[in-house]
Amino acid sequence: MVKMWEEICEQPAALKRCLETNREVINMLVEALDSHDISSVVIAARGTSDHAGIYGKYVIESTLGIPVALAAPSVVTVYGKSLKLKNSLVIGISQSGKAADVLEIIREGNKQGAITVAITNFNDSPLANEASYHLYTDAGLEKSVAATKTFTTQMYLLANLAAVWAKDADMQQQLSKVPDLVSKTLELSDVIKEKVQRYRYMNECFVLARGMNYSIAMETALKIQETCYIRARAYAVSDFHHGPFAMIDKDMPVILLAPEGPSLKDNEEMIHKLKDAGAELVIFSDKDEILELGTTSFRIPKAGSDLLSPFCNAVVAQMFACNLSLARGLNPDSPRGLNKVTITK
Ligand code: AGP
Repeated sequence: MVKMWEEICEQPAALKRCLETNREVINMLVEALDSHDISSVVIAARGTSDHAGIYGKYVIESTLGIPVALAAPSVVTVYGKSLKLKNSLVIGISQSGKAADVLEIIREGNKQGAITVAITNFNDSPLANEASYHLYTDAGLEKSVAATKTFTTQMYLLANLAAVWAKDADMQQQLSKVPDLVSKTLELSDVIKEKVQRYRYMNECFVLARGMNYSIAMETALKIQETCYIRARAYAVSDFHHGPFAMIDKDMPVILLAPEGPSLKDNEEMIHKLKDAGAELVIFSDKDEILELGTTSFRIPKAGSDLLSPFCNAVVAQMFACNLSLARGLNPDSPRGLNKVTITK
């Protein structure tokens, strides 16, 4: 069995564990946040960790109404400029904790007296040591180059931080269902193994979603790119109307994440438009009428909210990419030209 698959399957346990590990530090962090007038959140991250940050942006903004900016580290590291971070919560996310450019943003925050938080999978990493608070994903060593369990644990910590910060007991209760939802999602493994065969020779595809699941569309595309060498591009459904749609022609594979929830209406409209244009639709959803519209469909467990469905969609995407990579005769654990740790400045 490849490591990526093993690590995908470890997620229910990893998610449970990471919440237990961080309850106390999240409470301490929220105490500090409550005594400051935080006007914005700045998140710095790369690759998969950046996609967890995008999920965090939607969750924090929709729960607390505090604007969240995704930092462009080059402003500091390439252009030598400083960002005004004093009244911001500054979060750096990095599986390895070694992301040099993310570290610079945390340092900048520290210099200005901002509250800084690192989310990493290594207690003794440069990022964990630099930030004033460390949320430890505690996912166990991730050996596959393709990040899986560190991604969902990063997302989980961000969502739980938002819920505790907002004093939203109902949201905390909802989030406690995530490990079970992920377990149920893993039951799709046989169906996914079988259905990916149809896409063995695919060279390109689009991945679309709206709102909270946009982060998962981005992550799905990255997982497919790095493990299958397919030119996958992700868009928010809303943006796809504004130009990219012109690239759709007959049989173009489009993966659509369309769970029940506030974003479904827009997704449904896009599904019909794509069908009219002859696209080949791969749909992840929990709704019968939507699943019926796909050439290939994966029924995710009923999550009941856009806060939770991204976890199910993320796991389906990981299983899809891993199996497709194997079906193409590749090794998802060691993609060509990539290392586990990539340092950019
Ligand atoms: C994940 O599958 C990728 N291999 C890659 O994008 C990775 O997430 C990125 O290099 C960031 O690494 P970090 O989280 O260790 O900083």
